[in-house]
Amino acid sequence: MEKLRILVINGPNLNLLGVREPGIYGAMTLDDVNRFISESVDSETEFFQSNHEGAIIDKIHEVRDKFDGCVINPGAYTHYSYAIYDAIRAVEKPFVEVHISDVDNREEFRKISVTAPACIEKISGHGVKGYVEGVKKIEEYVNSHK
Ligand code: DQA
Repeated sequence: MEKLRILVINGPNLNLLGVREPGIYGAMTLDDVNRFISESVDSETEFFQSNHEGAIIDKIHEVRDKFDGCVINPGAYTHYSYAIYDAIRAVEKPFVEVHISDVDNREEFRKISVTAPACIEKISGHGVKGYVEGVKKIEEYVNSHK
C-alpha cells in the first residue's frame, strides 16, 4: 500500500520549542519533535513552521493537491485567525488541530479556538505525543473514507 503524505504545520513561536517556557511546552526542540513524529508514524511526513499568518495560509493551500491531510498547531492564531479557519475549509482535506499544552485549563483566551471547527479533531494537553496522535487520526480518517 502506498504511504499517505501528511503535512505537519507549526505556527508562531513554535520555532522556540525547547527554549520557550519549557515548563509548559517541554524540553524538545522543534527539530527533535519533528524527528520524533516521523519516526513514530507510517505515513510520509513533511514539516513546516512559520511565524507569519500569510505563509501558513499559503502552505495550507498546498495541502489540496500535495497531501492527504495535515496536522496543525496554529499557536496563538488558533484563538483569532478566521483567515486560517477559512484556508482549512477551502482545501477540503482532513486537518487535526494539536496543542502541546492543555489550552482549556490555562488563560481564558486560550479556551477559544476559531480554527478547530474546521478540523476533524482537536487534541490538546498530550504534549508532543499529540502530534503523533494527530497523524494517526488522519491515517484512520483517510483509510475509512476511501
Ligand atoms: C499552543 C497553545 C497556544 O495557546 C499558544 O499560543 C501556543 C502554543 C500549544 O501548543 O499548546 O503558541 O498552541
